[in-house]
Amino acid sequence: MGETWFRGITPDGKASARIDTSVAHSARMYDYILGGKDNYEADRKAAEAAIAAQPHLATAMRENRALMRRMVAFLAKEAGIRQFLDIGTGLPTSPNVHEIACAIHPDARVVYVDNDPIVLSHARALLTGSDDGAIAYIDADARDTGRILGDPDLRATLDLSEPVALLLIGIMHFIPDEDDPYGMVTALLASLPVGSYLAIQHPTSDFYEPGRGAAVAYSNAGIPFRYRTRGEFARFIDGLDPVPPGIQPMAEWRPEAGPATRLSPVQAAAYAAVAKKMTASSASQVRPESS
Ligand SMILES: C[S@@+](CC[C@H](N)C(=O)[O-])C[C@H]1O[C@@H](n2cnc3c(N)ncnc32)[C@H](O)[C@@H]1O
Repeated sequence: MGETWFRGITPDGKASARIDTSVAHSARMYDYILGGKDNYEADRKAAEAAIAAQPHLATAMRENRALMRRMVAFLAKEAGIRQFLDIGTGLPTSPNVHEIACAIHPDARVVYVDNDPIVLSHARALLTGSDDGAIAYIDADARDTGRILGDPDLRATLDLSEPVALLLIGIMHFIPDEDDPYGMVTALLASLPVGSYLAIQHPTSDFYEPGRGAAVAYSNAGIPFRYRTRGEFARFIDGLDPVPPGIQPMAEWRPEAGPATRLSPVQAAAYAAVAKKMTASSASQVRPESS
């Protein structure tokens, strides 16, 4: 396992100096809400405000992890994907993407990307148990697509002439409109070959009464948070071929649980879809907003 995989991590694996515990971070709020210990007072305060505004938040986040597992299992088992680019990785919880993918294809390769210093400090845990060269971690902002795609560790880990599954699970709501989220996805997909997939989850306020939801609590803590409507979500997969059942509230995307035990759209208020790149130009067909 090359040391370059751990750029920015101190030799003892401790958090790097740029961690600012005085302000909330989305990864640490997520960790707190999921019952983890990698969070600080500012994260807990912001997370409690978010839970007060959206009491189902912990349930929704657990469903988000379950969705990730279903999506990766589908991609590996049914779509035959062996390469994954997971942007907005989050703090390690088990099983992670590589554990699910490698259980199906032992030669699977995974590149994780996140911009949170605490996630970076846990990269060793994320990479534990991997064979040499099978998994890499890149400390980068998702909006810096050129930096991610040109990263030597990504190039050494993924073969971009073979299909890749791009995972954007629970991250795009942190990319405000002014940062061109659709252009970001287009740029990422443009570098992946035909036969690649996009798996995406995005919170929505479509199922809430007006004014409800956790977005304001995040924004008050200095974290941009943008709910998107179904129409806005659909633009992310525009030009791609959605695999059945298409765009769904996340608990309805290839669910394992029976109808009676599935979460309602209000409890798990996010859209989910997996879609395939069918033509070389299909990743750049984003239309002006029409919804
Ligand atoms: C809600 S967590 C989702 C984690 C994981 N994908 C999952 O579904 O469980 C969102 C993650 O996105 C990361 N993130 C937010 N904005 C980002 C950005 N601009 N660039 C890279 N990562 C970002 C956060 O640090 C956090 O780890």
